[in-house]
Amino acid sequence: MTKIGIVVGSTREGRAGRSVGEWVLSKTSNRDVEYEIVDIKDYDLPFIGTTENQENVIKWNEKLNSLDGFVFVVAEYNHSITGALKNALDSAREAWNNKAAGIVSYGSAGGARAAEHLRGILSELQIASVRSHILLSLFDDFKNFSEFNPRSIHDDNLNQLFDQVESWSMALSSLRGDENE
Ligand SMILES: Cc1cc2nc3c(=O)[nH]c(=O)nc-3n(C[C@H](O)[C@H](O)[C@H](O)COP(=O)(O)O)c2cc1C
Repeated sequence: MTKIGIVVGSTREGRAGRSVGEWVLSKTSNRDVEYEIVDIKDYDLPFIGTTENQENVIKWNEKLNSLDGFVFVVAEYNHSITGALKNALDSAREAWNNKAAGIVSYGSAGGARAAEHLRGILSELQIASVRSHILLSLFDDFKNFSEFNPRSIHDDNLNQLFDQVESWSMALSSLRGDENE
């Protein structure tokens, strides 16, 4: 069975990221593949290279190894991705390779600038990012710029994103040599 991780990319207290991730998950109930939330905050990853204790980094890599593709939930911080997401991306290598991903971003301009930065990073990690992209506006999809309140206009686009991530994740499984082919 193909498994897709919904990677929640922000970790701060009071973040909107977890609600956005849960919304993405709620839209997957009619899909034929498995989706799960993979919350970076749950792994408490050390900043790369700062400790010899690699227990959480190993757990992180094991989780990524169990997944075929990803939907990244991306907050825009200073026109880029969060430091927490960059550190989580840097904390694995082979476990990312030859997989597919879609991006759900949010910010005042829909998180577009962070999403485009992320695409460059994903190509270095050999993750193929699909065209469909959900841009959530802090003005229109949040109340008071903080409480997530998405418009239903995103639903069709989100389904297209799932179609693309699923088909590319399955197509790339021949390169991964998975037993899930
Ligand atoms: C350090 C920081 C920098 C931010 N920079 C931007 C930015 O450059 N562009 C933008 O649209 N929003 C920016 N924001 C607003 C965030 O997009 C908004 O707070 C969002 O809810 C953050 O995601 P989170 O709640 O999951 O942490 C910034 C927020 C923080 C905390």
